[in-house]
Amino acid sequence: MRITLRDIQRMRDGGERIAMVTAYDHPSAVLAERAGVPMLLVGDSLGMVVQGRESTLPVTLDDMARHAAAVVRGTERALVVADLPFLTYATEADAVAGARRLMGEAGAGAVKLEGGAAVTAVVARLTALGVPVMGHLGFTPQAQHQIGLRVQGKDAAAARQLLADALALEDAGAFAIVLELVPAPLAAAITARLRIPTIGIGAGAGCSGQVQVWHDILGVGTGRVPRHAKPYAAIGPAIEAALKSYVADVASGAFPTAAQSAGMDEAALAQALS
Ligand code: KIV
Ligand code: NA
Repeated sequence: MRITLRDIQRMRDGGERIAMVTAYDHPSAVLAERAGVPMLLVGDSLGMVVQGRESTLPVTLDDMARHAAAVVRGTERALVVADLPFLTYATEADAVAGARRLMGEAGAGAVKLEGGAAVTAVVARLTALGVPVMGHLGFTPQAQHQIGLRVQGKDAAAARQLLADALALEDAGAFAIVLELVPAPLAAAITARLRIPTIGIGAGAGCSGQVQVWHDILGVGTGRVPRHAKPYAAIGPAIEAALKSYVADVASGAFPTAAQSAGMDEAALAQALS
């Protein structure tokens, strides 16, 4: 049985912190599920960490649907949330069409979209149609050209706006809200005012759960790792070292050996070559 919104809400109500991580492909999804991750995010961060782009803005609905489908195929239990990309939810009709791709076709269990008051009508419409929506406030990467790459909500006015946006998303029907790059005390205060879970990233320990980008916490990526990410492994260097050994073995002839090769009856070969 897949984890449902009720399970996620129950975890929050019971004070059980919710671990979420991004995943973009089938093997990652299988490993995350084996590790017991209840909620996976197919994030549009794939634009950077998978596609080598500078931001999430060029990511398309086709990209999201393809990666979401691979992640869904790798899971039986996890709730798979997929990002609606930049400018695919500016109108209710677009948002509905996007949710149809990500949930109806790719098989995701929920969608995520960025913003506060500006998207509450879209959130309400999707929710009314049976689409679970995760909100995303604070640093919202799709708006980075407006807001810059920095912690959000640091002064009183911005903090008040963040709280108002969070309450508006909850009222509109969002089942959870990502808080990204928000001061820890503010994220804790918002979490205390909401009934739905908050999922923090660079927002301190006072959220109902945490989300991190796969490449950042596993040391897979080649880019800059944000301050809020803790390295749980160094997979990138392990891959590089393994591939160096492989290259050396191919060069020296140490790979492949008979163990990795198929033999053939000598007489049959002689006959074939005569
Ligand atoms: O795309 C993503 O990975 C995200 C998380 C950083 C929350 O939206
Ligand atoms: Na995202």
